[in-house]
Amino acid sequence: MLKIRDAGPADAAACAAIYRPYVLDTAITFETEPPTAAEMSERITAASRAHAWLVAELEDNIIGYAYAGPFAVRPAYRWSCEVSVYLETGRHRTGAGRALYQVLLPRLVDRGYRVAVAKTTLPNEPSLGLHASFGFEPVGVHRRIGWKHGAWRDVAITQLNLVTDSAEPIEPR
Ligand SMILES: CC(C)(COP(=O)(O)OP(=O)(O)OC[C@H]1O[C@@H](n2cnc3c(N)ncnc32)[C@H](O)[C@@H]1OP(=O)(O)O)[C@@H](O)C(=O)NCCC(=O)NCCS
Repeated sequence: MLKIRDAGPADAAACAAIYRPYVLDTAITFETEPPTAAEMSERITAASRAHAWLVAELEDNIIGYAYAGPFAVRPAYRWSCEVSVYLETGRHRTGAGRALYQVLLPRLVDRGYRVAVAKTTLPNEPSLGLHASFGFEPVGVHRRIGWKHGAWRDVAITQLNLVTDSAEPIEPR
């Protein structure tokens, strides 16, 4: 059975292995050097401290992960975060993406975050479909905003208002 749980440093190598082909073979991420397990461990620790980093585990194997980080550094942005999700290649449309977001998004609300933003290099129907299914709405498209694998790439921005009231927010914790 698929289990969603918080990640720890021991999951870093598995997360790095999942991410590596996306870095090397696709423009889904704009990173060009796959992070090492040590670098991934630092990312997991930082995300867990301020936002969240979750893994999807199936029969003792990590098959995917989702996390959130800051949307931007200036202080007034601090209730907004950017979310990402990656599954082992070939394991798509099996419900793991949804299962990860079903835990990640409420967790962000609990921590005091108000807005989640996703950036999707186009084309990527699975990512746009997953985000739309959670209510993320199109904000716009950065045209030809990155160069990777011999082409200029467009990036779609989508946004989910996790909390819709206009009250003064409490500090994220
Ligand atoms: C994007 C990704 C995480 C989606 O996860 P997934 O497990 O394949 O998606 P799920 O099976 O949970 O699907 C949930 C919903 O997303 C949407 N969706 C998923 N795949 C889709 C596709 N190929 N086309 C359109 N919508 C899709 C559907 O609404 C789906 O619900 P449904 O199956 O009931 O119709 C996965 O495809 C992936 O890892 N892709 C590569 C990495 C990536 O692009 N990450 C996003 C970076 S922003």
